Amino acid sequence: MHINKKYRLLSFITAMLLLTSCAGGDVVTTDSASDSRAEQTTLDTGSEEAVSSGEFEAADFTADGGNFTAKFVSVNDFDGEVSFSLTDGTDTVKDSKKITIKAGESCEFTGEASFLSADFTLAFSSKPGGGEGEDLKIEFKNGLVQLSEDSVDLVIDAMTLEEKAALVVSLPAERAMAANTYSIERLGVPSIQFADGPAGLRLDIATIGYPTGTTLASTWNNATVQKITEYLADDCDTFGVEILLAPGLNIQKEIFGGRNFEYFSEDPYLTGMLASAYTLGLQSKGIGVSLKHYAANNQETARGVVSSKVTERALRELYLKAFDYAVENSDPYTVMTSYNKINGKYTSTRGDLISILRDEFGFDGCVLSDWEASGSRDGMIKAGNDMYCGSRDVATDVQEIIRLVRTKNIKIENLDSCCKNVLELVVRTGADFSQQRFPGRARNRSEKVTAVRAAGAEGMVLLKNEGNTLPINNTSVAVFGNASYVTEHGGYGAGSVVVAGVISVYNGLKNAEGITVNADVAALYSGCRKHPHVLTPEANPTNDELEVVITRDIAKKAAEESEYAIFTVSRMTMEGADHTDRRGDFRLNVVEEEALTYISEEFHAKGKKVIVLINTGNPIEVASWRDMADAIIYIGLPGEQVGNSAADVLTGAVNPSGKLTSTWPVSYSDTPCSEYFPGNTTETVYYDDIYVGYRYYKTFNVETAYEFGYGLSYTTFEYSDFTVNEGNDGITLSVKVKNTGSVAGSEVVQFYVTKPDGKNEHPVAELVGYGKTSILEAGSEETITVTVTDKELMTYVTSDSAWIVEKGEYKFSVGASVDDIKFDKSVTKAAETLVLDTENACEPLESFDIITKETPKKTENLGENLALDKPVKVSGQEAGCESFYATDGSVGTRWSALGTTSEKYWITVDLGEVKDISKIKINWESNAKENFTVKVSSDEQNWTTLKKVEYSSITVNECSGTSARYVRVEGKAGGFFSIYEIAVYGE
Ligand code: BGC
Repeated sequence: MHINKKYRLLSFITAMLLLTSCAGGDVVTTDSASDSRAEQTTLDTGSEEAVSSGEFEAADFTADGGNFTAKFVSVNDFDGEVSFSLTDGTDTVKDSKKITIKAGESCEFTGEASFLSADFTLAFSSKPGGGEGEDLKIEFKNGLVQLSEDSVDLVIDAMTLEEKAALVVSLPAERAMAANTYSIERLGVPSIQFADGPAGLRLDIATIGYPTGTTLASTWNNATVQKITEYLADDCDTFGVEILLAPGLNIQKEIFGGRNFEYFSEDPYLTGMLASAYTLGLQSKGIGVSLKHYAANNQETARGVVSSKVTERALRELYLKAFDYAVENSDPYTVMTSYNKINGKYTSTRGDLISILRDEFGFDGCVLSDWEASGSRDGMIKAGNDMYCGSRDVATDVQEIIRLVRTKNIKIENLDSCCKNVLELVVRTGADFSQQRFPGRARNRSEKVTAVRAAGAEGMVLLKNEGNTLPINNTSVAVFGNASYVTEHGGYGAGSVVVAGVISVYNGLKNAEGITVNADVAALYSGCRKHPHVLTPEANPTNDELEVVITRDIAKKAAEESEYAIFTVSRMTMEGADHTDRRGDFRLNVVEEEALTYISEEFHAKGKKVIVLINTGNPIEVASWRDMADAIIYIGLPGEQVGNSAADVLTGAVNPSGKLTSTWPVSYSDTPCSEYFPGNTTETVYYDDIYVGYRYYKTFNVETAYEFGYGLSYTTFEYSDFTVNEGNDGITLSVKVKNTGSVAGSEVVQFYVTKPDGKNEHPVAELVGYGKTSILEAGSEETITVTVTDKELMTYVTSDSAWIVEKGEYKFSVGASVDDIKFDKSVTKAAETLVLDTENACEPLESFDIITKETPKKTENLGENLALDKPVKVSGQEAGCESFYATDGSVGTRWSALGTTSEKYWITVDLGEVKDISKIKINWESNAKENFTVKVSSDEQNWTTLKKVEYSSITVNECSGTSARYVRVEGKAGGFFSIYEIAVYGE
């Protein structure tokens, strides 16, 4: 039997207000000056709240003098007895009644309430005798209602405006935890604790460093993800954390995203499914999650202010879609909005997006802002962003909300609705006042690190294995690269974890049985044995500038002594900074390249093999050097056991089964948005539209270094018996996979669809399902089956504000990667189906240039940026916006000559020698609305004006035939001059 929740709450708000107000002076103490209280007292006595429960209807609820009366009607065919009881503070039942309800008839329970002055409980039960299985139970202490599942509205009624405002602003927390919530002891509202983050609990003391999002995702194994987060939940429990601020669901739209390591994939289906598994693991143990960051937060550059300019279709089909899957499958406790704006408006203030989350996806939890997010307080509350988190000045923020309510800029109903979601969250966590923070150390450490080691190894991707170089056993290795000795286990920022220790690649190999590690080579790296917890270039030996120089002689000697060379390339990755197409970042730096060259030449000269390990959170450039390596493993950022996990894969103790969850391009300029990312502080244009990641490379036949879904194994698999069957619940796809090699292994199977172009055009491949076999012994086989529903097949037609499944041919395929397709079969949909007519159309957006099949990416090989890191001279500079920022390769930093002067502003880049210049690109801060002049010179004396540039123009194309050493950009006197980047192309 279901008692309608809404009925219960509405009824009891009315009833209890009346009960308490007639029960004596010491009941419900509220601030009489509070506006919210004023609203509450207008609640009707005897209101006719008739809400259907399917079984019951509340016909009436009144109180008069010291009595109250509840009147019910049984609807449908419920015939039976319900009981109603009032219990005092000593658990003595003071009044109770059994009422027999006859189908379709009404009945009443009348009680006397005057004894209710201190502690009592009111319960309603449809079970004979009440007690067990109570449908409703509300406790009062000192005459004040106490928070429980059934009393949320009642508590809101009893709260003062000050308490309400305080409840929706988070409080600073201790010990690196992210925040906690305001507690209201008198109403039984405890505080709950929020802490980061995705790869482990972030405290100021050591917890456990689990694999990061990308490495977990590369397992393509929901069960592994869930198991890891069950352990993580135990850490949260140990340290008194109710909500873990994870998982991160942003799409890895750009290969340079600084937080990609926290995220799962460039694909929304895979992201959504893995986020569901992640959430189920934590929440099955009673720890709530926060799906973050909602939405289109795909870069770190200017993340707090930048606006993602994106079409509604791409927004819905890619960036919101992952959240939709996770909400549907795992019922998350909270969702965190993002820092950025979407199409000009902060996500935390976009009621339209929060309505989509609640009404279309069915989210019924609490919406948090990101920490210190920029959206306005009233904008957030009106939009339904329930909590403003990370406040630095709680008192001011709370006062501001009170002021906004008093001045009627925020309706009290909006604030109440936010409070309701926060209170329901508090109830859902089961928190109480006895919760202890930091009572101890991580429990079951050895069991957990065993799981970390296994999951880390499972997430490693074998990219190359020429001539079965791997696995290696009973042999000797020379281990090169700083990162072999100080291996990164994760990224930095909110996704970082303090760990007790990290097993480096070197130590992992030393731990491995039968592997002898070259001590002379190891000695070269003795200066970088410690893992730094403070992130500075000096402190972190994996920083490229600190890489140990390997001479030919060193390589030669090592090749004489050891059978294999292992070289680890690593990149620090972190919140707040994106990667760039530079040496030492996307590309190998000179020392790494030289080292690898010598190692490769010397080992190969002796017929010995070279293995490269890539220890990063993002793809790096491999095409230019991979021929120097015989085997390459993307070890990712797999947690604190990184070295042991890597050794397990190297030695074959674990047969690799990870596959890439994002595309590794040949060069950065091959990526769809290379000309647009990361925009400037104002805007970042999603030019790639629906063609993100493999959707782009496949549709436009752009060659990749390693494609989405790619990963090798030490065994081989054969696919057979691909079937496609249409049923009532969707289309079932299945395939048989057989291990045809000689060692046990498991295979990730991927299913894709090619949708028909109709009202919309579509990428030629979209992931609609995946599965992973168990570890198959050689010769054994398993069938993988998935069901594809309308959700995977639908497309969003913006002009109709509707999700439809287009009519036409749907080609389903199965493969080992997006490029390695084994079979396909088609299904034809005779007619178009309307899946959902959305009521929540997003605010319309003027059209802008995007990639379409008719207008593919304009490719332009600009060549090398001759200005990168070149010295500059300037007329002056603002502190923090120094001159070198104009040529540092990042449009996230700028040079500014703010101020007034009677002389012209200028900046001159010195290319070092006279070069042939083909193009100059200037990334200019758009609110510096000054025209400027671009000049060139070979001697810094005689200048030729190339162009007078109008505001908003940033590219000087008219350079053909220009040879110069100096490039100068000049603004008028007294103007405002601010430039992110000057790039000069040519030879
Ligand atoms: C990050 C969030 C994180 C929060 C709390 C923010 O800067 O963007 O992901 O959960 O801080 O630490």
